[in-house]
Amino acid sequence: ESLEKGGFEHFMMKEIFEQPRSVRDCMRGRIFPLEGKVELGGIKQYTDKLKNAERIIIIACGTSWHAGLTGEYLIEEYGRIKVEVEYASEFRYRNPIITDKDIVMAVSQSGETADTLAAIEIAKERGATILGICNVVGASIPRVTDAGVYTHAGPEIGVASTKAFTAQVTVLTLIALYIAQHKGTLTPAKLINMLTELDTIPDKIQLLLQDNDLIEGIATKIKDAPNCLFLGRGFGFPVALEGALKLKEISYIHAEGYPAAEMKHGPIALIDEQMPVIFIATKNSSYEKVISNIQEVKARKGIVIAIVTQGDVKVKNMADYCIEIPDADEAFLPLLATIPLQLLSYHIAVKRGCNVDQPRNLAKSVTVE
Ligand code: G6P
Repeated sequence: ESLEKGGFEHFMMKEIFEQPRSVRDCMRGRIFPLEGKVELGGIKQYTDKLKNAERIIIIACGTSWHAGLTGEYLIEEYGRIKVEVEYASEFRYRNPIITDKDIVMAVSQSGETADTLAAIEIAKERGATILGICNVVGASIPRVTDAGVYTHAGPEIGVASTKAFTAQVTVLTLIALYIAQHKGTLTPAKLINMLTELDTIPDKIQLLLQDNDLIEGIATKIKDAPNCLFLGRGFGFPVALEGALKLKEISYIHAEGYPAAEMKHGPIALIDEQMPVIFIATKNSSYEKVISNIQEVKARKGIVIAIVTQGDVKVKNMADYCIEIPDADEAFLPLLATIPLQLLSYHIAVKRGCNVDQPRNLAKSVTVE
């Protein structure tokens, strides 16, 4: 088994460190930066249907649902198609309004999640086109969908999803840019720019992993907190949700992810000197607004841990701890900002003596309702 872990103590750590490669594998043969082109062979025959769709519904569970939420932000921004993200378990029992004009995208690492499979069946009965985004080749979901895109992250053993998540986000980024390319919602020049930058993301993830020791140090400081809050806006919001889920899954610390601006409608009541608040505070369109949220937390003596853009000074002066990530187009923020949060959860869980690869009560794949 230690051989399988590739010298790492846990599968989760091995899989976190595999991400430069898994994200690269996911893009291989699919992006052509110099030509500003994305090719997705698996869904090619549905290109017209996709670009003309009035609505895309993304269905998923757990971490895959968070990837789906990044898909909503990406596809609406770049492909200009209305997207709804649904929990498969809610969708299936709600008599959902679906027509043959809808595209349903099912996102699933295992391709076996019972609720997601059932939701697909309902959408199918109502005539929707079903596309799958799965990791396990030949699993049940890819078999029942009309077409799809594999994430190619390789086998994921750790119950808490890491590299499968970033691969799902990568595929959804590719789909958003694919739609933009075919609909003309992005100019060829902008597509070239974005794909050129996307091509550098695996190297940037590699750089980020060098912060492992720094992050372990921060984990030592907050490992005994009973609660933790994760806040982000825009592309940082799904990252906050995923950061919180990861922490609660493996460390059993109660954690909540929230849109930063919603803090004042509830979570602010919880903030005191015991409460670590993790902010996604990179330089993007919501930077200044997130800064004012940080000030609100500091005014209540919360402990601020901020994910910031390399070279940031403003947030650094306010936060208790900062983790820098390389500068990038905000569309790629989820692919970068997620990594330090995975490491933070991992180290906190290890320091609390938790079984990070097999957390209590959780299963890798939930094949029953
Ligand atoms: C379980 C796993 C999660 C996963 C979720 C959905 O809860 O522990 O890591 O995100 O199921 O699984 P799927 O295979 O459909 O992505």
